[in-house]
Parts: sequence; C-alpha cells; structure tokens
Amino acid sequence: MRVTKISRPLVILNAATSLDGKIATFTGDSRMSSPADMRRVHRLRASVDAIMVGLRTLLIDDPKLTVKFFKGDTPYRIIVDSKARTPLSSYVVRTAKNAPTIIAVTSSASERRIRTLRKKGVTVLVCGRGPLVSLNLLLRRLRTIGIRKILLEGGGTLNWSMLSSGLVDEISIAITPRIIGGAGAISLVEGKGSAIVKDGIMLKLLNVGKYGPDLVVRYKVVR
Ligand SMILES: NC(=O)c1ccc[n+]([C@@H]2O[C@H](COP(=O)([O-])OP(=O)(O)OC[C@H]3O[C@@H](n4cnc5c(N)ncnc54)[C@H](OP(=O)(O)O)[C@@H]3O)[C@@H](O)[C@H]2O)c1
Repeated sequence: MRVTKISRPLVILNAATSLDGKIATFTGDSRMSSPADMRRVHRLRASVDAIMVGLRTLLIDDPKLTVKFFKGDTPYRIIVDSKARTPLSSYVVRTAKNAPTIIAVTSSASERRIRTLRKKGVTVLVCGRGPLVSLNLLLRRLRTIGIRKILLEGGGTLNWSMLSSGLVDEISIAITPRIIGGAGAISLVEGKGSAIVKDGIMLKLLNVGKYGPDLVVRYKVVR
C-alpha cells in the first residue's frame, strides 16, 4: 500500500532586533522597525498563507496581524496558546469574523472557553495534551487545510520551540541601530539554548539589504 506523506508548511521566521539581539525592552516595548522595514514586513505578510505568534506576544502587543500597503488574500492569523487564554477583547478575537483566525490549544484548555472562542468566529485546533501546543501536530494540521507558507513573528519563546524542533526554513532579521540591553529583555530566541556553540542551529547567509536605517539579514536554516 502506498502511504501519502503530508508535509508541513514552509516557515519563515521574521523579527526586528536591536544590535544586541533583543526583540523587546525589559518593559515589553518592541516597536523597533523603521517605516521602510515595516513595508518589507507587510510585503512578506502579503506573500504567506498565515502569520503565527505566541501567546505572550498577543498579550503584550495585542497585534492586528493583518496586511497593510499590499493587496492580496488575507492570511490566517495563528495564536499558539495552550490554555486558550487569548482575551475575548483582543483585536484578533474581535475581528475573527472578518479575518481567518486560528487559536492552537492543548486538551487542557477549558471546553467552555473553546466554545466561546468558536462562537466568536475563531477556529480552535486542539494539538496534543500539553503542557505546550504540539507544534509538529499543529503544522501538519495547518498543511491539511491548505496552509503552505507561514510567517513566524515570535516571540522569543515560540521562536526557540520552532527552531529547536527543526520547523523553521528561513530567517529574516531587521537589525535596528540601537543597543537596548536588559538581562530580562526578551531576545530573538529564548528557551534553554545550546550548551556548546557547535550544537547551535546552523545558518547559511542568503542576502543582506538596507531598509532605511535597518540592516536586514536573510538566512536559510541548514539542517
Ligand atoms: N521585535 C520583534 O520582532 C518582536 C516580534 C514578536 C514579539 N516580540 C516581543 O516578544 C515578547 C514576547 O515573547 P515571549 O518569548 O515572552 O513569548 P511568546 O514566544 O510570544 O509566547 C510564548 C508563549 O506561547 C505559548 N506556547 C504554547 N505552546 C508553545 C510552544 N510549543 N512553544 C513555545 N510557546 C508556546 C506559551 O504560553 P502558554 O503556556 O500559556 O500557552 C508560551 O509562554 C513581547 O514583548 C513582544 O513584544 C517582538
């Protein structure tokens, strides 16, 4: 019998960092892209089927995750949120009937909460028993509903989980010419990290560009 392999979507990680690799200050302020870089990000958003963020990014930034400046289909918005804690007052939930919105949870999320989110127009996908959302399962399920290309927009904790699970194919980083510091400020990648440099995720430089004052470096993830 022939077994058909369902592959996962291609994943591009995009972020704006300070020169010292922070994606937010210790207070959570993350507005670091220049107007020229914002246009690049929106062009990238217009080229994908879905934009994905972790719960803490949703809670801190209340992002719209929509496309400005460029025309095209509205990408799905995906929130990775084990216990379905995305507030009903958040922008993505309030607008879920106008823009396709997925919240990926685990079976530990309250059934009642899941029902309420569904009534608001959110597609809730239960991916594993937890404690965290099974990203492998999520990506496979996204592929089966026609999502071929995802833009991963952080934050650092989700970036680590995706990278360390081998689920990222390309990385674009806009480096803003500032140094932010702060031991508690979130870095591009959080998580446990590699014990030795040799075990770090290998990248191959694809290209470098200048967007206003920001330097954008694009890498392919080498497995
Ligand atoms: N400069 C930039 O480009 C940029 C971009 C994005 C975000 N940010 C900033 O990054 C900060 C947030 O980053 P963060 O690292 O604190 O949080 P995050 O990565 O946005 O969210 C992490 C949360 O996602 C949930 N999650 C569920 N399943 C997961 C899994 N398998 N792996 C990882 N996370 C999973 C967990 O919460 P539960 O256990 O409750 O599910 C986890 O605590 C904010 O300040 C935001 O402004 C900056």
